Amino acid sequence: MKSTSKKKENTPMYDVDDWENDLLSRYPDPEETSKQKEEFRNYVDSDRVDGVREFYRLNHQFQTYDFVCEKEREFLKFDKREMSLWDAVAFLNTLVDDSDPDIELDQLQHLLQTSEAIRADGHPDWFVLTGFIHDMGKVLCLFGEPQWAVVGDTFPVGCAYSDKIVYPEFFKDNPDYSDERFQTKSGIYEAHCGLDQVKMSWGHDEYLYQIVKDHLPDPALYMIRYHSFYAQHREAAYDHLMNKKDHEMFEWVKKFNPYDLYSKAPTPPDAKALKPYYEDLVAKYLPDTLKF
Ligand SMILES: [Fe+2]
Ligand SMILES: [Fe+2]
Repeated sequence: MKSTSKKKENTPMYDVDDWENDLLSRYPDPEETSKQKEEFRNYVDSDRVDGVREFYRLNHQFQTYDFVCEKEREFLKFDKREMSLWDAVAFLNTLVDDSDPDIELDQLQHLLQTSEAIRADGHPDWFVLTGFIHDMGKVLCLFGEPQWAVVGDTFPVGCAYSDKIVYPEFFKDNPDYSDERFQTKSGIYEAHCGLDQVKMSWGHDEYLYQIVKDHLPDPALYMIRYHSFYAQHREAAYDHLMNKKDHEMFEWVKKFNPYDLYSKAPTPPDAKALKPYYEDLVAKYLPDTLKF
């Protein structure tokens, strides 16, 4: 079934989730069945592929070091909204999906599928909570941010781009590409300085990390902060910036990734029935309200 809906004007992808669907073609589920493969092939029509490509062209061109600094100044004041996690979930779910409703799930369903798959495997409750909230940073879309500044693979800025990042050729249009400070292997950073010293391209990972960083254990924070850093957790392209703690914590990031990518269950989770469990879980770790 091909998509019939229209893209919004000046928006490269039909939907921010087209990026995550594209990830599945780059990193297919090793356990997927041939029927699932077939369904996926039908879903990925050329128009969507072109949309994702254009999305990455914009992302790689405009995510400069200075852009990241500017977004940090703008969003890390947390003066946009104060809301409970539940209000934030409801708010995120207003991110209306214009694409094919037969295939697409709303944001809450993706979060619940991820967290329920983690729970079913018997992981600690903070890991389940991480699955449940990991994409809350996508509320950036609702604050008017363009797709290329909310989703997409993240990568370090301020140093050379790895050719392991998707569509590396698009970086030649990024002004940082011709700035010699930024184009040695470690750029402005010391080798093995640790990722905490390294600025990543701006998006929903870093934003949510900054919102919840005082409330969750380190492995949870790494999963939130680096879940879109495919060039590292899948390709190990930035070992030269990582310290010992990063390497230990990335074991958790790697553990998290299959739940994010491959947890699309055939029957959508029953959000209403699950709510009491998640209410208790959220109350255990997070304050009554969070500042966005
Ligand atoms: Fe995400
Ligand atoms: Fe996700």
